[in-house]
Amino acid sequence: CLSSKERCRARCQTANLLGVLLGRRIRMATDNKLRFVTSMLEFPSGAGNISALNAIILGEALASEENDLVFPSDDFARQAHVSSPQQYFEMYKSLHALRISTFAKGNISIQWFKGGLTNICYNCLDRNIESGNADKIAIYWEGNDPGLQDSLTYSQLLDKVCQLSNYLKDVGVKKGDAVVIYLPMLMELPIAMLACARIGAVHSVVFAGYSSESLAQRIIDCKPKVVITCNAVKRGAKVIHLKDIVDAALAESAKNGISVDVCLTYENQIALKREGTKWKEGKDVWWQDFVPKYPTTCEVEWVDAEDPLFLLYTSGSTGKPKGVLHTTGGYMVYSATTFKYAFDYKPSDVYWCTADCGWITGHSYVTYGPMLNGASVVVFEGTPTYPDAGRCWDIVDKFKVTIFYTAPTLVRSLMRESNEHVTRYSRKSLRVLGSVGEPINPSAWRWFFNVVGDSRCPISDTWWQTETGGFMITPLPGAWPQKPGSATFPFFGVQPVIVDEKGVEIEGVCSGYLCIKNSWPGAFRTLYGDHERYETTYFKPFAGYYFTGDGCSRDKDGYHWLTGRVDDVINVSGHRIGTAEVESALVSHPKCAEAAVVGVEHEVKGQGIYAFVTLVEGEPYSEELRKSLVLTVRNQIGAFAAPDKIHWAPGLPKTRSGKIMRRILRKIASKQLDELGDTSTLAEPHVVEQLIELADR
Ligand code: PRX
Repeated sequence: CLSSKERCRARCQTANLLGVLLGRRIRMATDNKLRFVTSMLEFPSGAGNISALNAIILGEALASEENDLVFPSDDFARQAHVSSPQQYFEMYKSLHALRISTFAKGNISIQWFKGGLTNICYNCLDRNIESGNADKIAIYWEGNDPGLQDSLTYSQLLDKVCQLSNYLKDVGVKKGDAVVIYLPMLMELPIAMLACARIGAVHSVVFAGYSSESLAQRIIDCKPKVVITCNAVKRGAKVIHLKDIVDAALAESAKNGISVDVCLTYENQIALKREGTKWKEGKDVWWQDFVPKYPTTCEVEWVDAEDPLFLLYTSGSTGKPKGVLHTTGGYMVYSATTFKYAFDYKPSDVYWCTADCGWITGHSYVTYGPMLNGASVVVFEGTPTYPDAGRCWDIVDKFKVTIFYTAPTLVRSLMRESNEHVTRYSRKSLRVLGSVGEPINPSAWRWFFNVVGDSRCPISDTWWQTETGGFMITPLPGAWPQKPGSATFPFFGVQPVIVDEKGVEIEGVCSGYLCIKNSWPGAFRTLYGDHERYETTYFKPFAGYYFTGDGCSRDKDGYHWLTGRVDDVINVSGHRIGTAEVESALVSHPKCAEAAVVGVEHEVKGQGIYAFVTLVEGEPYSEELRKSLVLTVRNQIGAFAAPDKIHWAPGLPKTRSGKIMRRILRKIASKQLDELGDTSTLAEPHVVEQLIELADR
């Protein structure tokens, strides 16, 4: 990754590992059973049952319900970076031997390549330009309205990044300072991320669908010098005034003693001209008036591999969002390598990930992973169903997209529409599909595979998390057959284990809690300002392991099947929402006395938000009040967190010590009334009957 050692003064460890990962010549394994048995003996348990997988490949496995196998075509496998299980095992083993340390049972401190100096912006841009890709398209941009498009080559992108880096330095942003970015999917969003990285500033992108209160909460936590936003954005047919939201957030932050020096606002002329935008002289600055005046070159700030790169807030099981902190070197190696192998990336590919840069997927697989590989990336501002359900395939044909990465919720929502929206487009350019964010149900998998991919494009169902930085369990699309709905096997070097409630590893066919046994380069290093919460949440539940918060089962062939969150986190359309966050928004409503939120199955969103609400004494239920409660959540968190159902609850089922029994609420919400279990230990058992009676009110 580091083209010129002298210039970047990179230390050997980073380069060594990259050499092994990216440059190593792999001997094509021949079909040799004996060698396979040898690898099985040496292989770490987490990577699955090799002999069973081998039997499948050799056609010796008996068909069973789990053997709904979808093989990569010969043509695909022949050209793939990893084209057989043998090759995968060889690579896994070689990396494994490099250094794999398990987690200590005491204090957790993860470091990779400490002492190495590098810069991720340099590796995304300068290095690609120096190696002959200056005129290659880095970003194809497609606006909300069809017909609006733009593009930047790698050298044009570098110019823009340098101008913004210079501007940020000029207003006093230094290495280690935080910058909050609250932008929609304009090209300026990856530009802003890269500009921060270039000067060693720590970006914290806040999804532009979050409310002013959520934004304020994040600003108060990370205390940025600068906030970068735009005046407005069009989403579908609607105009949203982002600058007003930022103003409200800054006012709220100021009340809490946090003031931000500069609010840099991009004039999104397509949504709305600058006239009418509220303006505070001194603090507010139009991007277009200042940034383009700065030089198009900017010295790189070489940072330690362990210096922070970004903070990204995510939901946990308490009301307070967690500031997940990623550092530079390990994250860089991991996002680059996972991107290359899980999508079988080749330089001729055009890659499109539909995620927003406000989430981790947009960090690792819109900006960093692809650009580290010198890829041409599609950035899409709009929504997949505007103006109609064919929009994605229109974009695929327009830019000749070869790798298309999206979320199951989008697949399910498009599946409900006529297939004609898909089939009227060619989609011939597609060669790899990807899925992320939640388990993809087999019927959605098949529709994606058969209808979108014309039964010829493998699907990489990538399981990972904000915390993991990159893919952890993922198919390598040419290497082994897939099973619809299974994320298959771990990425090189990752050792997933399934443990029981006592934290004991379970071997073979099983179900339990998914943990990771060893450290990997992309792992987050801490929760910003709260290392104790980091250790308590992730490393204490099962001593010696990183606990993912997910349930998982493993079948007889070693394939992994993710079954969803086992903590108080709901996954709505691939967005992670803490039940406690929604509850605290609801109880802030003056007429709400108590609230309990659970997730329920939802046909399109995966999970929906189901809220049990107890009103203050004497307050009658009404449709108006329901709307006002939902609006409170929208205003406090964002529209994506609005409850799907409010269930009026005169009381909530609690234990005698006052703990809400969510297990019972989940059963009531999903109408599994014959599975309520023992309710006799409740403080007031009759509330369960009351709740059942009120289910349809
Ligand atoms: O429950 C898992 C689910 O999404 C959670 C992580 O959410 P977040 O940090 O917002 O990151 C989303 C994008 C990586 C996980 O704990 N999840 C993610 N990918 C999958 C998945 N569940 C099943 N299959 C997946 N491929």
